[in-house]
Amino acid sequence: MGQIFTTTQFYLHGKKHSTATGYLKHTLSYTSPFQLSPIATPIDNDQVDLTGKSIIITGGNSGIGLTLATYCASKNAYVELFCRNEERAAKAVSQITSLTSNPNISYTVCDVSLKSSIDAAISSRPTDSPLHAVVCNAGVLLNDRQESSEGNELTLASHLVFGSYYLSKVSERAFWKTSTLAMGVTNDLVIRLFFKFHLACTWGVLDRP
Ligand SMILES: NC(=O)c1ccc[n+]([C@@H]2O[C@H](COP(=O)([O-])OP(=O)(O)OC[C@H]3O[C@@H](n4cnc5c(N)ncnc54)[C@H](OP(=O)(O)O)[C@@H]3O)[C@@H](O)[C@H]2O)c1
Repeated sequence: MGQIFTTTQFYLHGKKHSTATGYLKHTLSYTSPFQLSPIATPIDNDQVDLTGKSIIITGGNSGIGLTLATYCASKNAYVELFCRNEERAAKAVSQITSLTSNPNISYTVCDVSLKSSIDAAISSRPTDSPLHAVVCNAGVLLNDRQESSEGNELTLASHLVFGSYYLSKVSERAFWKTSTLAMGVTNDLVIRLFFKFHLACTWGVLDRP
């Protein structure tokens, strides 16, 4: 009985607050800086400028990663998508470029659940290429146990071990070359990430030019 009550409450709360309808309702109480779309318009501008900033976003070809990539592109950042599928990555790059008119969007094929793939992706970047932020967004939440070709459980490997911890660690080399550092680690905090990133820019944790 208790379980039915809890599940029903959870369902009703989620439906009210977390669907698109709930989101739009809550946006009415958001205060500045806030914008309704990943692409700022003159009326809907949060004053963030990422010109000259170089940002890697894993899993940037769909969902939250794609929205964040579009947002950063619209703020003039150099955006590099780390995606496991080349076709989906190229499609996302073309979509972001046409939406934002920012030509500095690229992709690197990278399966974040694999150490070898992260090593290859990071080594393929020019060593003197600056990097200001890595958004560790990619990952899967699987119901059944599945293993990567390296023998690691996929949810843990993609979200945490390689997709967040290892990628952050091997990116440090590039961070040292820049004066600023921002690291977004997502997983269950991903919903808040966009706003954290947004606030980091607004509050000056990420330098503005
Ligand atoms: N939305 C939520 O309510 C929620 C809640 C908790 C946690 N999260 C986490 O937040 C992140 C984004 O959520 P979302 O809703 O935007 O998810 P999504 O639409 O499923 O997007 C996930 C992205 O990650 C990519 N990806 C998955 N495994 C990968 C791998 N091994 N290597 C490289 N890319 C990989 C996917 O690429 P493909 O297109 O190739 O599959 C896709 O682009 C995910 O990590 C998710 O688990 C989301």
